[in-house]
Amino acid sequence: MCGIVGYIGREPAAPYLIEGLTRLEYRGYDSAGVAVLNSKGKTTRVRTAGRVRALESALPARLSGTVGIGHTRWATHGPAEERNAHPHASVSGRINVVHNGIIDNAANLRSALSDAGVELSSDTDTEAVAHLIAQSTADSLEEAVLDTLAKVSGTYALAVTDEAHPDRIVVARSGSPLIIGVGDEEMFLASDVAALVRHTNRVVHLEDGELATITSSGFRTFDRSRNDTDRSPIEISVAAEDLELSGYEHYMLKEMREQPAAAQDCMRGRLDERFATARLDGLELDARELRGFDRVKILGCGSAYYVGQIGAQMIEDLARIPADAEAASEFRYRRPIIEPRTLYVAVSQSGETADTAFAVNEIRRKGGRVIGLVNAVGSTIAREVDGGIYLHAGPEIAVASTKALTNMGISFALLALHLGRLHDLSFADGQRIIRGLQRVPEQIQEILDQESEFEQIVTDLAKARSAFYIGRVRGFPVAREGAQKLKEISYIHAEAYQTSELKHGPLALIEPSMPTVAIIPQDDLTDRNVAAAEQVLARRGPLVAITHASVDLGNLPVSTIVVPQNEPELDPILLTIPTQILAYRTAIALGHDVDKPRNLAKSVTVE
Ligand code: AGP
Repeated sequence: MCGIVGYIGREPAAPYLIEGLTRLEYRGYDSAGVAVLNSKGKTTRVRTAGRVRALESALPARLSGTVGIGHTRWATHGPAEERNAHPHASVSGRINVVHNGIIDNAANLRSALSDAGVELSSDTDTEAVAHLIAQSTADSLEEAVLDTLAKVSGTYALAVTDEAHPDRIVVARSGSPLIIGVGDEEMFLASDVAALVRHTNRVVHLEDGELATITSSGFRTFDRSRNDTDRSPIEISVAAEDLELSGYEHYMLKEMREQPAAAQDCMRGRLDERFATARLDGLELDARELRGFDRVKILGCGSAYYVGQIGAQMIEDLARIPADAEAASEFRYRRPIIEPRTLYVAVSQSGETADTAFAVNEIRRKGGRVIGLVNAVGSTIAREVDGGIYLHAGPEIAVASTKALTNMGISFALLALHLGRLHDLSFADGQRIIRGLQRVPEQIQEILDQESEFEQIVTDLAKARSAFYIGRVRGFPVAREGAQKLKEISYIHAEAYQTSELKHGPLALIEPSMPTVAIIPQDDLTDRNVAAAEQVLARRGPLVAITHASVDLGNLPVSTIVVPQNEPELDPILLTIPTQILAYRTAIALGHDVDKPRNLAKSVTVE
């Protein structure tokens, strides 16, 4: 979703801004803009609807200012038109603002400004902020921003320039991420580390309620009460190459292929063979505290929610603690009962998903304990939870999540193992799970190596307008995730059902043009799954089975994708991999932009 970049230093700012915005393209956006301030205090503002490339072509040839802010916008208030693109400026153009988040009282602020005679030039909430800062009678930009924030409610990451103070950018954060990158005689600003890791790995993640003044020689952080917060930069380990395509055609392909190595990274140092458990120091919960929980509630959105369902099943299987997963986007709206003896688990690749972050906030406000399974180090959710497990999947750029989801599955297995060994999971079963986990990376590789065998299945799937994905118990979240992937990038309508529910309604839709992808692992439900497959085939529905070699499908006319078998608790991690390949290859066959599917953003930072 929306992205912010900023630069202040000795070099012309524009190339840094354009490069940073290009790095943020993967997040999804529909318009872009920059404001560059020169040493004489004159701002050049350029905005375009559409791609950053269009913005770059629209920039004047000579743009030498060394202070600048830039933005990619994902439309919320008003359509994706130039007049709604950021930066937004005050009437005279003196103040320029870029903003991520949503100002809740924007309608009131805008009508008060109109009543006072200000001619509004956009439909946005952000424009009101620019006018309010300009109207402040404070004698510093910092005080003018503080004045304005006192009138504003909502979420924001803001960066502000002022022609009257051309030596600085003032920034503020509440609910939307903002990161200062510390260089040598130059400073960077971004809402996502991807925009600045090429220039520095020393960063400061602003906290909610914090502001900062950034100049070319340094920064000062302070809170809303004007007290210094004295933040020191931390070093981040994201390498610039991690964000490159490195010869792959698409980020999604690269990220799928990185899964064996990413899975190893996730488990490194965490498998304790001596005690047949997992070492999870980041949980910040000791054995006594963990034994005190008698329920686990997992919260995530979209695919993270579906992997949460896989995780809940693992926890019930291995730790015998009641566990379930819920869509984080619904959680706080149903007045959830926060139970002191429930362990809450927020799961998120980006760590910035607003719906999940709000759920975390709700739990903490009411005294619950919440841990995070998060990929992005230092992200909002990672910092707000009481402890957690980093996924160590490395940066994920493609909108369709793959390697982060796999590492979520592995992290849930580690958590389930850890909890299980504190309850009644035997030493032998603990060892069984550890050995299973150790096999996962090479088994993922085996599946990836079969990719070319998917060709005929993909050709058939690409012709469909709609598809079913079915599975039972452990296989059902796999089916949900498979259907989600197909929808996201191939735009083929796909619906997931419990296999057992087919005959209660959806079977009516089975016909030759409606393919079904059935998850049929070797487990105690295999016979029932095969019987359901026969029912689909009897209605001349084409069937693809994602299955194990030992499953006897007889002479059924089924296309099969055979997945190596692991321990039953861990099989869902592996059964999911072919669904990624199916979706990817189908999207490519249909000529879609797999990395940037329409209408979707990589990190959904608004509700
Ligand atoms: C996954 O392919 C999707 N892009 C989406 O469902 C995603 O999993 C969801 O928006 C949650 O994102 P998060 O993991 O960053 O919180």
